[in-house]
Amino acid sequence: MQIEQRLTFPPACTDPIFSLPQLQNFLAQAHHVLLCAQGGGHLLGRATAGATADILTLFVPPEARRQGRAAALLQAFLAHAKAQGATGLALEVRADNAAAIALYTKLGLVAQHRRVGYYGAHQDALVLAVNFP
Ligand SMILES: CC(C)(COP(=O)(O)OP(=O)(O)OC[C@H]1O[C@@H](n2cnc3c(N)ncnc32)[C@H](O)[C@@H]1OP(=O)(O)O)[C@@H](O)C(=O)NCCC(=O)NCCS
Repeated sequence: MQIEQRLTFPPACTDPIFSLPQLQNFLAQAHHVLLCAQGGGHLLGRATAGATADILTLFVPPEARRQGRAAALLQAFLAHAKAQGATGLALEVRADNAAAIALYTKLGLVAQHRRVGYYGAHQDALVLAVNFP
């Protein structure tokens, strides 16, 4: 799976959380990185030396799923974050998002705690994290 770092979002890019202008605004800020998988799928994250990296959004279009795109994007971001000197990666995921939790767990993140009502009255978040050696 080919992953490339890009400086702009492709015009056709869709994301379930952020609009294209919002994504582009994030990307213009320091320490943010956009990784794209060839044929669809993107990850926007930030990584700074001496701090915990995080992921703002990770999305693979439904027709392109279960082909290893998200795993490749996440591996590329972990490598990027380590190279930047980040101390680890931590993120929140909806507690009912079984696909994302399986993905993150497979790549070494461990559930730390649950944030009750983080996404609304009946939507808890799980905090998952990994520390870099
Ligand atoms: C979660 C998401 C990014 C996974 O993308 P993907 O490209 O299909 O994932 P991959 O093919 O790289 O899967 C890697 C591993 O993750 C796990 N996984 C992925 N999707 C899964 C699913 N639907 N059910 C169970 N496990 C799943 C599996 O362990 C999988 O390995 P396997 O295929 O060898 O079993 C994708 O479903 C998506 O974009 N969902 C909507 C947005 C979202 O939830 N983003 C994460 C927010 S924190």
